[in-house]
Amino acid sequence: MSNIHYKKGNILKLENYPHILIHSCNCDGSWGGGIAYQMGIRYPRSEREYMKICSEGGSDLLGTCSLLPSYSDDNLIIACLFTSSYGGAGHGSKESILEYTKLALEDMYSQIQDPKVAANCKAVTALADYKLEMPMINSGIFGVPWELTENELKNFKEKMSFIVYQL
Ligand code: APR
Repeated sequence: MSNIHYKKGNILKLENYPHILIHSCNCDGSWGGGIAYQMGIRYPRSEREYMKICSEGGSDLLGTCSLLPSYSDDNLIIACLFTSSYGGAGHGSKESILEYTKLALEDMYSQIQDPKVAANCKAVTALADYKLEMPMINSGIFGVPWELTENELKNFKEKMSFIVYQL
């Protein structure tokens, strides 16, 4: 059985179960386009926290994940996968984005096993019980064909399952 389940619709519609919204981020502190822009409008406090993390870590963040509270929705935690130094036209190559996606998902997996991380991101239950949801990451502004990211997700079959929203 596949560890990827597709769902039609807007990932930002509010769900009433604990879920982690995973998205691909630059390390430059900009949620200026795509899904990140929409999240910045809904979750400005999370965006400010993301900007602070970027200003402190910069490109050293590549291949890591930050789990942030959404602050306004108890059931939602935001996972930022740092996969490119810059956004927009300055984004990394497809190969580097995919490699950092893999590493950042591994980092996310270790963090969701850690109760201290759960407390920091104001989790309502163990993070391992949260549903892992994402849009078709990397396939918009980052320009990586979805099938390549999908293959990376499949490699986590033994560890994690993902719900992928398609517009
Ligand atoms: N619901 C579901 N899917 C969405 C939504 C939504 N509300 N909004 C956008 N998408 C889809 C897009 O159609 C695309 O398939 O999300 C996918 C990823 O698009 P982008 O946001 O362009 O993200 P990505 O290609 O991962 O590039 C990341 O863009 O999001 C910014 O700051 C972020 O620099 C980073 C870069």
